[in-house]
Amino acid sequence: MRAVGWVALAGLAACAAPEEGYVLDLPEGFPAPVIPADNPLTAEKIELGRHLFYETRLSGNETQSCGSCHLQELAFTDGRTVGLGSTGAPHARNVNGLTNVAYNSTLTWANPLLTDLETQMLLPLFGDDPVEMGAAPGQDAVLARIADDPAYQERFAAAYPKLDAPVTWDTTIGAIASFMRTLISGDSPFDRFAYQGDGSALSPTELRGLELFYSERLECHHCHGGFNFSEASVHADSVFDAALFHNTGLYDVDGQGAYPANNTGVYAITGDPADMGRFRPPSLRNVAVTAPYLHDGSAATLEEVVRIYERGGRLVEDGPNAGDGAESPLKSGLVPGFELTDAERDDLIAFLGSLTDTRFLEDPRFAPP
Ligand code: HEC
Ligand code: HEC
Repeated sequence: MRAVGWVALAGLAACAAPEEGYVLDLPEGFPAPVIPADNPLTAEKIELGRHLFYETRLSGNETQSCGSCHLQELAFTDGRTVGLGSTGAPHARNVNGLTNVAYNSTLTWANPLLTDLETQMLLPLFGDDPVEMGAAPGQDAVLARIADDPAYQERFAAAYPKLDAPVTWDTTIGAIASFMRTLISGDSPFDRFAYQGDGSALSPTELRGLELFYSERLECHHCHGGFNFSEASVHADSVFDAALFHNTGLYDVDGQGAYPANNTGVYAITGDPADMGRFRPPSLRNVAVTAPYLHDGSAATLEEVVRIYERGGRLVEDGPNAGDGAESPLKSGLVPGFELTDAERDDLIAFLGSLTDTRFLEDPRFAPP
């Protein structure tokens, strides 16, 4: 049983005896993601999950769905600096994209304890710090809106045929998680070049950028490596490695490496001073459409991000967060700084653009019903 927060997910195991096996349509070069044994994929559950992902009746005041903050055309981000909840409360962090989220070994920007989508979902649904969907105060009434809808009664019955009363929070969460596990993106120009044998898929500038990205001079691939451009990926044959969070020298507000108090990274979870400012390297797939960047949305463009790496950390000149992240004693050794010509910087940014998979951004299977 997963007993976390407001709902104990005890029912999942009971309701999820494997139905007909559903085979994910994986791109060339992609390993199989880990699918929890107690929530196997089925076509009916995925389709139900898509409806629920875009269902505003699931928020307390019926204004927001998951899809309000996770928009497909922005690779399931929202274009805002930080997320904005259904009651108008700002989130401390930038909205994570959901590209290939099934492969993330941990979820959200900096939480080593959140390792499955079902558990993570309790935060946007029921969390009150900050309120996102705000379903907690009247959670029975919120669920009743769904249970009373004949169209949903049919979909839940199809997705969970063994249950007499299939509309529960467990099944709702299980279906949305199943839908998210299908959000797989692997058809970018980079993929056609690297995995599909199309030597002409990348332009000369993108190719030069690729060489820079994988060079020891820039070090990008050490943290944004592998098929998903994040070392923080897990799949059927991988071994979990907890040392995946890094301080990239974005802040040093006290001369000892401190980050702003509302965004201290893994430190907020563990309390270990060594974890100050350590965040998960996000996947860089579709990164060209997910501006603004970084855990707090503090970089508006990819060029701004690249210039931070060039400098070996960020100088915040004034204001409450003033300080030079490049001097932080907690900064990763993989962010030493390096020099780029303007042309090289353009190449690197062009390469990042080659990770955009337009088919994913427009795929009707992922769109609002
Ligand atoms: C108010 C905007 C908002 C809403 C509504 C929202 N999210 Fe999010 N989501 C966020 C933010 C902000 C983060 C980053 C949280 C953090 O790092 O603490 C996030 C992170 C996530 C992640 C982690 C992805 C990763 O890369 O690790 C998942 C999964 C997710 N949300 C799923 C959902 C689902 C499912 C729903 C609906 C039940 C939902 N979200 C509703 C704002 C939102
Ligand atoms: C030491 C590991 C590490 C190295 C090396 C590294 N990154 Fe990152 N990268 C991260 C982490 C961690 C974050 C998130 C930082 C944060 O928000 O606090 C990040 C964030 C980013 C982002 C923002 C993505 C988003 O969705 O907001 C981009 C773009 C990026 N890195 C590109 C690069 C490039 C290009 C290089 C090489 C020049 C590089 N990274 C090198 C760990 C690394």
